[in-house]
Amino acid sequence: MDEKNSSKLIMDEMLNKFEELFGAGGDIRSYFAPGRVNLIGEHTDYNGGHVFPCALTMGNYAVARKRDDDIIRWYNMSYPKDGVQERSVKGLAPNDNGIWYDYQQGVLWALQQKGYSVETGYDMVMCGDMPTGSGLSASASIELVAAVIVRDLLKLDISMEDCAKIGQYSENNYNGMNCGIMDQFASAMGKEGHAIFLDTATVEYEYVPLNMEKKKIVITNSMVKHQLAGSAYNDRRRESEEALKCLQKVVQIDSLGDLDEETFEKHKDVITDEICRKRAKHAVYENQRTIAAVKALKNGDLAAFGKLMNESHVSLRDDYEVSCKELDILAEEAWKLPFVIGSRMTGGGFGGCTVSIVEEASVDEFKKKIGDVYREKTGIDAEFYIADAAEGARRLK
Ligand code: GLA
Repeated sequence: MDEKNSSKLIMDEMLNKFEELFGAGGDIRSYFAPGRVNLIGEHTDYNGGHVFPCALTMGNYAVARKRDDDIIRWYNMSYPKDGVQERSVKGLAPNDNGIWYDYQQGVLWALQQKGYSVETGYDMVMCGDMPTGSGLSASASIELVAAVIVRDLLKLDISMEDCAKIGQYSENNYNGMNCGIMDQFASAMGKEGHAIFLDTATVEYEYVPLNMEKKKIVITNSMVKHQLAGSAYNDRRRESEEALKCLQKVVQIDSLGDLDEETFEKHKDVITDEICRKRAKHAVYENQRTIAAVKALKNGDLAAFGKLMNESHVSLRDDYEVSCKELDILAEEAWKLPFVIGSRMTGGGFGGCTVSIVEEASVDEFKKKIGDVYREKTGIDAEFYIADAAEGARRLK
């Protein structure tokens, strides 16, 4: 089934469910927010560096109807066991349970914290068509679907960029995950056929066309969920901040993203802790790699882009230590194939997916070869998705 048909099917099913649970009629509107895949620039977004993600066609759909009171009634077809979640929009309080409705509530709470008037509730049915816990930002997609619903139904005067910032604020302060801005920004601001070259220090960005003639971006899901990744993620962030503090004694910088490789090498010994030094090395080099990769892409030099992707994986594996055995197998086996331009883990790590650029004519062979060797080495069946850069979060109807 093609994408249009499958999204129509989801939409029809959601509408049926909505009418069954909350009754027909009235102004029922539909929304979508995508997940994302990051092509390069990993663990740089909270270090003042650059990232290069694109929004996906997969994500979370919702249908919603505004109410007259302060009640929210929500149902997620992807989690039927949770039933209808009903509460007031008043008195929402942070927790770190990480359940789908927490990500939505977090956005309502964050909007309230930032002074937006969120006093009216809505009935909603949602449904995701993307894997969760796989490093493709299903949680950001849930946050952004909440943001576009509330923005539209309650007529909030808020830009999509600020919706992304609200999503990040809610994830940091409501859900206890100290993430950077990349995922929410990609979900909010995605553009068909383009990746987003975002400077996280200034939140300035540029859409770069993904001119990949006869190549495809293939996502391989290791099917290892990144459980417990939250605490390890927050550790990495702390270690990077510690390294920054040491460096700030000798160079005037606001973030690790301000350093080039040479300056880092010159001063790195002020970082006395070896682990923190490794983390900082990754952040500095990865940022420079990302800048170089975008330049290479603009020059049509995909081979250089792919080489930088491979180097990114090595750095994430050895210096930042956020890869895992399964992701290493997927990337390292991909490097052996002549029709693979580049391959690396993508997202936070500790499980999840790799992203590879593959010659279009060899995509089936890629799936077969990587699928077979991965099964042989881990006993797990990997899943593959073709990534088409897509539009960001929006109202559909
Ligand atoms: C997670 C976070 C992002 C980013 C990536 C790593 O996806 O949510 O902010 O830090 O990990 O690049």
